[in-house]
Amino acid sequence: MTEQERPRRVLSGMRPTGKMHLGHYHGALKNWVNLQGEYESFCFVADWHALTTDYGDTELFANNVVDMVIDWLAAGIDPKNASIFLQSAVPEHAELHLLLSMTTPLSWLERVPSYKEQQTRLKSKSLDTYGFLGYPLLQAADILIYGAEFVPVGGDQAAHVELTREVARRFNHLYDAPVLVEPKALHTPVTKLPGVDGQKMSKSYNNSIALREAPESVEKKIRTMQTDPARVRRTDPGDPDKCPVWQFHEIYSDVKTRQWVREGCTSAGIGCVDCKKPVIEAVLGELEPIRKAARPYEDNPDEVRAIIVEGSERARESAGATMQRVRGAMGLDRW
Ligand code: TRP
Ligand code: SF4
Repeated sequence: MTEQERPRRVLSGMRPTGKMHLGHYHGALKNWVNLQGEYESFCFVADWHALTTDYGDTELFANNVVDMVIDWLAAGIDPKNASIFLQSAVPEHAELHLLLSMTTPLSWLERVPSYKEQQTRLKSKSLDTYGFLGYPLLQAADILIYGAEFVPVGGDQAAHVELTREVARRFNHLYDAPVLVEPKALHTPVTKLPGVDGQKMSKSYNNSIALREAPESVEKKIRTMQTDPARVRRTDPGDPDKCPVWQFHEIYSDVKTRQWVREGCTSAGIGCVDCKKPVIEAVLGELEPIRKAARPYEDNPDEVRAIIVEGSERARESAGATMQRVRGAMGLDRW
């Protein structure tokens, strides 16, 4: 196949954090679903990545992998279109990571912004490990092993794609062979949805709405969610820009409803209870089909495992082909 004929590939990965919430959905997953029609897609569970920070807590994996993939499937990732796989089921990632570790200067890894940042933020975890330093290089291997042209990323991951490009360029230059494809970050218009307290949505902050959450619970969480703190009484005007409910409207409401909110809020014409109603409706409407689609997989998790096994086999084929070229370029096949 020539370059032109080769289907354009995207690779998307997520750590196995378990059940997905609305923040994951609007920040990444929905975008993956859209991309699978346009590109040859590989979606994978980055279990080794989880070990770079949570190596002491491997219980996490027990249910998280299958739970997360159920949500991917329920949200519309179609295993006929996209290969869904598990990183550790494709050990070629580790081989490429090792080989790239020979050619990558230490300073390139030390200056990745997330390195120092996370060491400071996750003080309790003792991240002075070799694996943690190398994690962006493992990510580079994940990407390069599929010759992925595009990687959909949020802001914090863009530096990793940039590193990946440098790693690929250096490899191709050193071995004088165009083996590795430089990927591009795909900055798609994803929207940040805050948690119900206005902070970043995260299971560990207890402010998230899960994709498969019971409707009563969804309704209660939105009904009691944080509003503009300055709007104490119904008669106080509010400022939507200081209110997390407004950010939900930005995602879920049409122009007319948004106008109604802005006018009603700033003039105290509507109450927060009124304001939240259309959000509750919209979120429930969005989640219902996802919850329904998840049910058969919840009843039969072995089917989910089979999908992961099959996707991992497909991934291995592609990864194996790249590794042959990598070994060849490095002279490892000339004995
Ligand atoms: N580092 C990503 C995260 O923590 C997950 C990830 C690992 C990834 N390898 C990847 C994402 C390759 C895209 C491509 O969210
Ligand atoms: Fe927030 Fe709506 Fe209340 Fe204004 S009316 S403070 S936007 S919930």
